[in-house]
Amino acid sequence: MLKQELDKNVFQALKEKMKQGLLPQWILTDPQIYEMEIDKIFAHTWQFLAHETELKEPGSYVTRWMVNDPVLLVKTNSGELKAFLNSCPHRGTQLCTADFGRKKTLTCPYHGWSFNLNGDLIGVVAGDKVYGGEMKKDEWGLRPIPQVGVYQGMIFGNLDPNAMPLEDYLGDMKWYMDIMLGRSDGGMEVRGLPQRWVVNTNWKLVLENFSGDPYHVQTTHRSTVEMGISPQDPLYAGYGHQVVLQHGHGVNVITASAPGKPQRPPYQGLPQEMWPMFERNLNEDQLKVFSKATVLVGSIFPNLSFVSPVHGSEGHLHNYLNFRVWRPLGPEKIEIWSWFMIDKAASDEYKEDAYKGYISSFGPSGTLEQDDTEIWIRVTQSSKGIMARSKDHSYNNLLNYLMGLDRVLPDDTWPGPGVAYPTCYLDAISRATHEYWLELLTGEGPESEQEMMRKEYAGGHGDE
Ligand code: FES
Ligand SMILES: [Fe+2]
Repeated sequence: MLKQELDKNVFQALKEKMKQGLLPQWILTDPQIYEMEIDKIFAHTWQFLAHETELKEPGSYVTRWMVNDPVLLVKTNSGELKAFLNSCPHRGTQLCTADFGRKKTLTCPYHGWSFNLNGDLIGVVAGDKVYGGEMKKDEWGLRPIPQVGVYQGMIFGNLDPNAMPLEDYLGDMKWYMDIMLGRSDGGMEVRGLPQRWVVNTNWKLVLENFSGDPYHVQTTHRSTVEMGISPQDPLYAGYGHQVVLQHGHGVNVITASAPGKPQRPPYQGLPQEMWPMFERNLNEDQLKVFSKATVLVGSIFPNLSFVSPVHGSEGHLHNYLNFRVWRPLGPEKIEIWSWFMIDKAASDEYKEDAYKGYISSFGPSGTLEQDDTEIWIRVTQSSKGIMARSKDHSYNNLLNYLMGLDRVLPDDTWPGPGVAYPTCYLDAISRATHEYWLELLTGEGPESEQEMMRKEYAGGHGDE
């Protein structure tokens, strides 16, 4: 329980401002909001844990975090995936301390209790002598994470046993995940280990940098234009569609070329010999979207983002998929976890080149990552002073999310699900995400205009 609840009026005021496309800056770093987010959002929503290709053989395990809950994800002898709290039920120490490994049994480093891969307690050091023969071992197994779900090889956990099933939660995002993760025979594979690093910023602002902010590309990443890597046209990252999905999710399908101008290479510049495979694995509408895409960038609420970019020069282009978890460590701190994924069916040479492209752009020391990190830190630094933190709006602390509001209308010729707008320079996803965030925080059902519009739109197009 929170020591101090935020006043209802504060949320009412927030809601009103958000409806007008304004975001009070204080929510970015407020400690009470942060505590509520952990309680009301992260305790009930699906969080990404790992990709199936990280756990290849029986006994393979990885250790992960769902904010502050340590998670041990194991592949059992029968090939089943199990997720446990990575905390020994005896006295609570972390059971596995390595990031990954392979084991036949899991032995606790504190007093030596051991568990099989199904989580059953199978060995207690000097058990009969210290506990007597009557110790009920079956009551002291590892504690399972309440729900685990898998979609297109992506393994998610949920700490709420009553949360809606993963596939319902992902909703129409599944259609876009199919394009990114299911286009190739055998799907995607993780290459290397997830990289992780800590940044002094708030999870919400990095989430929306990926889900709803292609507008920053032409300024923050200006050096790529100057080096001739990105187009000169300042609108280039805006060409395409921004798609608002349910539950705070969203995706930008960026074509990076103006309508009527020569199109960029189809299928994100992927080798032509892979195209028949895409045509086998995706439906006609998905192919329409994918064939024109240059970059796919977006987020699955609350803290999983992705970018599928194209690097390299004409005739030597590379595409990959980068998934990242923004693990909150406090109102002003996150741990970034970043996975490089690539089509299993691609050649080794292609995979290697694409990996180098990732490391030099979106890896922890990559140029694009450095550009963004600097900005994210500065937003946080400048959002915690007296003016920015004012809750009564006696100072003007409202940030601008007005782009496209009441001006840009959905494109009803869009072949995919969701509410798609014919530009990516738009705050539609951010506004919808803020609304969903507030609904979860206040426990109110979806009743927003965006939600109603989504339903109406979906109803009219048979998307839901
Ligand atoms: S804490 Fe694990 S055996 Fe004691
Ligand atoms: Fe960026």
